[in-house]
Amino acid sequence: MSPLPPQGVALRATGLVKRFKTGRSHIEVLKSVDFDARHGDLTMVMGPSGSGKSTLVACLSGLLRPDDGQVSALGEDLWTLKTGAIDRFRLNHCGFIFQGFNLFSALSALDQVTTVLKHTGLTRSEARERARTALEEVGLGHRLDMRPAELSGGEKQRVAIARALAKAPRLLFADEPTSALDGENGQVVIKLLQRAAKDQGAAVICVTHDPRLEAYADRIIHIEDGTILDDRRVSPAPDAAAPQLIEA
Ligand SMILES: Nc1ncnc2c1ncn2[C@@H]1O[C@H](COP(=O)(O)OP(=O)(O)OP(=O)(O)O)[C@@H](O)[C@H]1O
Ligand SMILES: [Mg+2]
Repeated sequence: MSPLPPQGVALRATGLVKRFKTGRSHIEVLKSVDFDARHGDLTMVMGPSGSGKSTLVACLSGLLRPDDGQVSALGEDLWTLKTGAIDRFRLNHCGFIFQGFNLFSALSALDQVTTVLKHTGLTRSEARERARTALEEVGLGHRLDMRPAELSGGEKQRVAIARALAKAPRLLFADEPTSALDGENGQVVIKLLQRAAKDQGAAVICVTHDPRLEAYADRIIHIEDGTILDDRRVSPAPDAAAPQLIEA
């Protein structure tokens, strides 16, 4: 029997502040943001352009050091770790899916995924086998040998997702993963993210502008001008108490 997926809070940020210097002044892009995300949830972060969504994801995932505040990720106080340890944390526990796919143009679909897995300590043949399975799971079993130039936008995004999911990350960050895709491919992608949350217990944090994706969210967080304005759960928490049955 496979182990139960993890439950509970995966990521908690408190008082996150991020400023950028522009000319002589600083702009405050995150204004003391508190945020948390749970295993098994697809948490969507929505808000206008420039509101700080990508900055928030970067601070939560160890890519961009906040000026103030704390990020506790899988129980680690992320920003107190040394740079090397933060890099290792990302490698071991985080998957990333960005809008531009970030694929290597010279590599086949199979090699894109294999290369990343080799860095996690698998042998070459284990990595290839796991990569093949991950690509089959996103419906690309027939495209293993193709390079990005030979793939459609939706297929490229699915390679990027297979690459992120192959190592079964406990934290999965997606920044506008469907913005380059038509409605149908967008749905395929969001369903894959949902599956990572439900089947693997990943905490999936997905930034999107796309209102069509709201239907797939467990929780929707609205951010505007560096502040969280609204935080709505739209499905019961996975470990919420079952409703009491009242016997007649
Ligand atoms: N490296 C940087 N230097 C200076 N300003 C920055 C930097 N990165 C982001 N900003 C500013 O911070 C603000 C928030 O940027 P961010 O990328 O987080 O927005 P966003 O909500 O992801 O927007 P979009 O929906 O357009 O992707 C913007 O006003 C942007 O200009
Ligand atoms: Mg952005």
